[in-house]
Amino acid sequence: MPDGNLPDGKLIGRPAIRVDGRAKVTGRARYASDEVVANPAHAFLVTSSIARGRIRGFDLAAARAVPGVLDILTHENVGDEARKPKPMSGEDTTTTLESDRVWHDGQIIAVVLADSFEAAREAAHKVRVDYEAEAPAATFGSPGAQEEVRKEGEHHDYRVGDAEAAFAAAEVRLDARYGTPTQHHNAIELFTTTCEWRDGKLTVYEPSQFVYGLRGSLAKQLGMEAGDIHVVSRFVGGAFGAKGGITARTAWIAVAARRLNRPVRLVPTRDQGFTIATYRAETRHHVQLGATRDGKLTAFRHEGWEVTSRPSQYNVSGTETTARIYRCPNILTKVNIVHADRNTPGFMRAPPDTPYMFALESAMDELAAALDMDPVELRRINDTQTDPVTGKPYSSRSLMRCFDEGAAHFGWAGRDRRPGTMRDGDWLVGWGCATAAYPANIGPAAARVTLTPEGRARVQIAAHDIGNGAYTVVAMMAADRLGLPIDKVVVEMGGSELPAAGLAAGSSHTAGITHAVAKACEGVRARLAEAAVLSNDGALAGLDPAAVTLAGGTLRGPGGEAEELPKALARVASGVLEVYAENVPQGLPPEAMGKIYEGQMAMSRGHSREDATTYAFGAQFVEVRVHALTREVRAPRAVGAFASPTIINPLTAHSQYMGGMIWGIGAALHEATEIDPQAARYTNDNIAEYLIPVNADVRSIEVIMVPEEDSQVNPLGIKGLGEIGIVGMNAAVANAVWHATGTRVRDLPIRIEDLL
Ligand code: MOS
Repeated sequence: MPDGNLPDGKLIGRPAIRVDGRAKVTGRARYASDEVVANPAHAFLVTSSIARGRIRGFDLAAARAVPGVLDILTHENVGDEARKPKPMSGEDTTTTLESDRVWHDGQIIAVVLADSFEAAREAAHKVRVDYEAEAPAATFGSPGAQEEVRKEGEHHDYRVGDAEAAFAAAEVRLDARYGTPTQHHNAIELFTTTCEWRDGKLTVYEPSQFVYGLRGSLAKQLGMEAGDIHVVSRFVGGAFGAKGGITARTAWIAVAARRLNRPVRLVPTRDQGFTIATYRAETRHHVQLGATRDGKLTAFRHEGWEVTSRPSQYNVSGTETTARIYRCPNILTKVNIVHADRNTPGFMRAPPDTPYMFALESAMDELAAALDMDPVELRRINDTQTDPVTGKPYSSRSLMRCFDEGAAHFGWAGRDRRPGTMRDGDWLVGWGCATAAYPANIGPAAARVTLTPEGRARVQIAAHDIGNGAYTVVAMMAADRLGLPIDKVVVEMGGSELPAAGLAAGSSHTAGITHAVAKACEGVRARLAEAAVLSNDGALAGLDPAAVTLAGGTLRGPGGEAEELPKALARVASGVLEVYAENVPQGLPPEAMGKIYEGQMAMSRGHSREDATTYAFGAQFVEVRVHALTREVRAPRAVGAFASPTIINPLTAHSQYMGGMIWGIGAALHEATEIDPQAARYTNDNIAEYLIPVNADVRSIEVIMVPEEDSQVNPLGIKGLGEIGIVGMNAAVANAVWHATGTRVRDLPIRIEDLL
């Protein structure tokens, strides 16, 4: 891997339109449920109408009598055909096939199969279920909800110095509690699954952020060889974390297709998506900050609580981020989980950092107010180039440059610190800011690159384009490294027949896959160069192979010596040249690549390395306007400044940052899944009542990419950016609302009734 050495950069770093854009807008792009299978039967899910209890039995007579119905699956007739799914983190998840147990409202309890979708749906509504219901616990504070301290496992609690004593002795203290609501992803594409068996082998078409993970998990559930399962997910219509792990539906549909000996297609409804997939858990926080009168932090305590299902230990533990944002000699963190009768939560954009940084960055704003200090200055006083938890240096950390550039663009210097002082007619104006941070994760990946004598390349990698532009960055990287125009590069992704790549999550994917592609391309160049310099007859004979470049269909030596690709290629292959390469990032053992092939998660995380902590940083600035009479809140203006050493495609990078910021505004002001506390049932499980921002809610969103040097984070200098755009936005909005009104809202979302 040529270190830190970006190619002469024909494409990398310049805005490129999506290579798959035309296919997407013309409908040629096949999403999983668009894939063609012969004569599929249609599945419709029957979901539980109670949240806790048992199923005594089913009355299927009326459902079976609907014309076109082929079969109805329940735990009674197929329960022994699959084992429980294992999620990627946590110990267990809700499972629905193997017993009469109901864990949560909306759990899959039967699957109706019919010749048409309409017949399956009609019959599903005629399935009668005899429940033995128990009173469920919906959430925090519900009778029967069970709190426990999170077990140490994937995540860690931190204890540095003596935070309790330091807090008690602090000159200035801030002690506050915060909360964030349940949220659901609501990607446009639904949670579909299509299964087809042929000669004992199974093909699964399902939108996925990790096709190898889906393959490996399903193989375990069905007791099969992973190699006998093929997972296909060429395009994904939005994922945001919800398509990262296996859920119960996949095994149900696989079993259904095997039983019918016919392909089965499931396209569940949007409301079913609220309960058959994962979501962002509700959280609570207790933050204590101790500081000197001049603003230096002396104590930081952060305790979090997260709701999960009864059987799962799932948690996101964002204290791993909040503990390392500011210099502080005394740190104490703790995370608790609360079991309720809910479906199991999972990843959702910046899973740990979004809720936990809301708490920290709100508390920092409260501390700044208590100190009568500018909130940017408070962050400057407590900035550090050293990870406060481990003492390791940050590979790079340009937080204050982000604050300075963001502040300059925003006009922050014109802010009056006193709340309620900036007014424009009937509107109270408030300005807030917050730190954004996200670990610079990177995953293992493998890629195969094929080059033809005519100068066409094919790149194969089981990567995932979840809307982020992954097809495009892979094509850009291969085109630059092979010296080809981008339209001579074909990229194949999203299938478990391809070389493996890790989970498209944790902002790890672009860094992971582009390194593997660059390595394979470098292998192509090296093979051609070595053969050319060792030849007796070529123009490059005897030259140093490392000095030979490949560009424009020509191999070139340092003195202008040149050889056309067909001739160079003929020396190493009579047809095409194919190179396979694997990249295991620093911080992971070599066997991490094998884990990906087995479908397990492996990722070098921001704090998993010995030599440095690797994190991306940014600064968010938001203007809100609160109507003096109606208390309606608007967020007309936001500026986000983000540091990133290498931006591969500024066009799609901009979209990722901007999308995250928009989501942050929505999460602060609109978004929440409401739950009926008696029934433990979601009550706004549709996008009419689940509020996400529309164009009228979003005005000016300015994204600034702050240049940053980092040769340590990884050879190509890539810090992922899919998630950091949302981090800090919730707090920046809440801080701006305080500045406009003097009212501090500590529970999201912020609504009119909070400001009356
Ligand atoms: Mo993302 S929530 O890490 O898929």
